Amino acid sequence: MENRAGVGSQSNSITYMTSNRNKIKELIDKRAEARLGGGEKRIESQHNKGKFTARERIDMLLDEGSFEEFDMFVTHRTHSFGMQKNKFLSDGVVTGRGTIDGRVVFVYSQDFTIFGGSLSETFAQKICKVKDYAMKVGAPVIGVNDSGGARIQEGVRSLAGYAEIFQRNIEASGVIPQISSIMGPCAGGSVYSPALTDFIIMTEDTSYMFVTGPKVVQTVTGEVISTEDLGGANVHSTKSGVSHFLSKNDEESVLLIRKLMSYLPSNNLEDPPFMPTEDPIDRLGDRLNDIIPEDPNKPYNMYDVIHEIVDDEEFFEVQRNYSQNIIVGFARFNGRSVGLVANNPMSLAGVLDINSSRKAARFVRFCDCFNIPLVTLVDVPGFLPGSNQEYGGIIVHGAKLLFAYGEATVPKVTITLRKSYGGAHDVMSCKQLRGDINYAWPSAEIAVMGAKGAVEVLEGRAISKLDSEEEKAKYAMQKEEEYVEKFANPYQAAKYGFIDDVIEPRNTRFRIVRSLEALHNKKEQNPPKKHCNIPL
Ligand code: HXC
Repeated sequence: MENRAGVGSQSNSITYMTSNRNKIKELIDKRAEARLGGGEKRIESQHNKGKFTARERIDMLLDEGSFEEFDMFVTHRTHSFGMQKNKFLSDGVVTGRGTIDGRVVFVYSQDFTIFGGSLSETFAQKICKVKDYAMKVGAPVIGVNDSGGARIQEGVRSLAGYAEIFQRNIEASGVIPQISSIMGPCAGGSVYSPALTDFIIMTEDTSYMFVTGPKVVQTVTGEVISTEDLGGANVHSTKSGVSHFLSKNDEESVLLIRKLMSYLPSNNLEDPPFMPTEDPIDRLGDRLNDIIPEDPNKPYNMYDVIHEIVDDEEFFEVQRNYSQNIIVGFARFNGRSVGLVANNPMSLAGVLDINSSRKAARFVRFCDCFNIPLVTLVDVPGFLPGSNQEYGGIIVHGAKLLFAYGEATVPKVTITLRKSYGGAHDVMSCKQLRGDINYAWPSAEIAVMGAKGAVEVLEGRAISKLDSEEEKAKYAMQKEEEYVEKFANPYQAAKYGFIDDVIEPRNTRFRIVRSLEALHNKKEQNPPKKHCNIPL
């Protein structure tokens, strides 16, 4: 018996070993099949367009060897249009988990080689799964978009799939950073998932986004327009502001994502990563003492100011080519991330208008969601006047920025470099919008309006009574000088404590670093509510 049992069990184990080997081989084969996506030909066609495949993009994005794929063996469940005979492992989207600089992120990357990356029900479920994991553990989600949109053969199930994704985008907003990279087509309703995320990166020449394509545009409106001119990366980086970053190719896109991640926490309960720096906190910026021109109407380069004061001259600008009268982006002071907002005197004299208000408001709100302190550099002559702006709703758009600053509870340090006039003064993180530390340079002009406008209002009647044009000009000039002397300086505001101190420009870095250190443990909360009603 014993002998027979022994023999029996030996022969069984040989059978198992053989079949286990077969099973492992089957697994390896299936993995290889999945990795081939839609097949060699379609991969070649993808490469010929200057694009990488979904998996290659993930490999470039994540730390080497860190990617763990989920749902590689998923296939679609459609029977219409003979689809049951046409199945590919992974079903057109590669999903999983990996790390960037050692920190966990969740990713999905649409695979154009399988049904043009079009979205099926199972495809959507895969994306939802990584989003759900990411929310459970508080890790960012990065999505790579390269898709022909809803998978036509799946009909409404595809639309439902999109809506499931949108809902998750909405719930994750403000909880975990969400980043969308557009590396191919992104059209129809599918543009709304990237639009619901925090940042969009578009790749030049190969990516486009629009709600309706050129053919529909022509049919409905008669307008003839190319894909690139309607929704290319350049259009969305300069005209619409939909895209936050423009890259030359897929490789540059992933580098931008990695860099962006270095400024962000993994979720809304964490602080951004600390990056030690050799840059001394008390480094003087001597050239700042001479940067403001004697003529108040002459511009200067705000980027020079930014580079002079931040760690290692490193400034990571967001929406660089859109609404350039305001500058927004990330930098560090003594190793800690900040969101930097600055008026740009080189573009429209740094006025606030509809687009700059929207751009800065969204950035301020992002920083506030993710515990990133705000540093604001002010040189703003006011709001852009005119019927275009009024008809476009500058009242509500300007209010967005005002709202965003007033709502923000992160540490807020504001430096007024030169002009800070009227409503724009209030909007740009003034003391009464819970600005924590407000400094001004000696060149600051903080007043209700500029001297010319003020004299026109206050002295208009007196001027009109004068006989000659010469007398009128002389009188107006004299009154303007008096006004400048009296009001266009930082001391009126400092007198009331609206400015905490007037500082020498070259000390700006040191003063900001010390302020941020002092504010590091700031805890401030808005009153409990369902949500605010920001003027959208
Ligand atoms: C199923 C699709 C597909 C789709 C492309 N394919 N889009 N399959 N559903 N939506 C398939 C093609 O049949 C082709 O299969 C392969 O993907 C590659 O497509 P090509 O057309 O050969 O590639 P290319 O010339 O580069 O053109 C890419 C494209 C084009 C511009 C994206 O395919 C296109 O216009 N597709 C349709 C886009 C669209 O209208 N989608 C629906 C939008 S409405 P084979 O087997 O030949 O290689 C929508 C609603 C969402 O998305 C709403 C959410 C709220």
